[in-house]
Amino acid sequence: MPNALFLTLEGIDGAGKSSHIDALAALFTAAGRQVTRTREPGGTPLAESLRNMVLSEPMDPLTESLLVFAARRDHVVRVIEPALARGDVVLCDRFTDATFAYQGGGRGFDLQVLSTLERWVQSHGETDDLLQPDLTLWFTLPPEIAAERLAGARLPDRFESQPLDFFRRVADGYAARADAAPTRFARIDADLPREQVWAQIESVLRERGIA
Ligand code: TYD
Repeated sequence: MPNALFLTLEGIDGAGKSSHIDALAALFTAAGRQVTRTREPGGTPLAESLRNMVLSEPMDPLTESLLVFAARRDHVVRVIEPALARGDVVLCDRFTDATFAYQGGGRGFDLQVLSTLERWVQSHGETDDLLQPDLTLWFTLPPEIAAERLAGARLPDRFESQPLDFFRRVADGYAARADAAPTRFARIDADLPREQVWAQIESVLRERGIA
């Protein structure tokens, strides 16, 4: 699958990443690519049901982690791997980095357990390789500003209603994942007007010879 591309978007709630997915899909479609646009938790009927539970039902952090990885497994097997095998561009709003950031950083859940689940869910054929995104656009902005953007936007879910300190820990969780995979992560300064955020995305794609 020489042309397949797995691209994820990450960042704390309120970073504005979702608003750039339409533009990315349009860009790749205009270049003649088949685009699979999806999100996590979610992307299949089963995973969307699990998403509704995770975003609304009280649960302990291990249950939460198992449910997001169960949703991911279904999504990987039914949607992401088949799309990559066809050579699509897969645009996914959040993936496993969000689990390390939210369940690991935010909730303080055991990172070793998350790594084990990551290995189970993302192992790939007979090799030791894990399915990972080719590129992760990581939208960063101060958690205080993200909270201002979210305030009053709509009824907050179980994550959006967390205090500022939770989002500081989530941001630290993302930073640790980025440190561990510096070539996969491209940091996008999201504390700027929308066009300037988009210009950074275009320049990352250009630098990497992607678009
Ligand atoms: P989000 O992607 O922000 O969607 P929307 O734009 O509809 O709010 O919401 C998903 C939430 O789920 C977000 O708060 C982060 C959280 N989440 C986790 O806690 N762990 C995960 O592994 C993933 C993928 C998401």
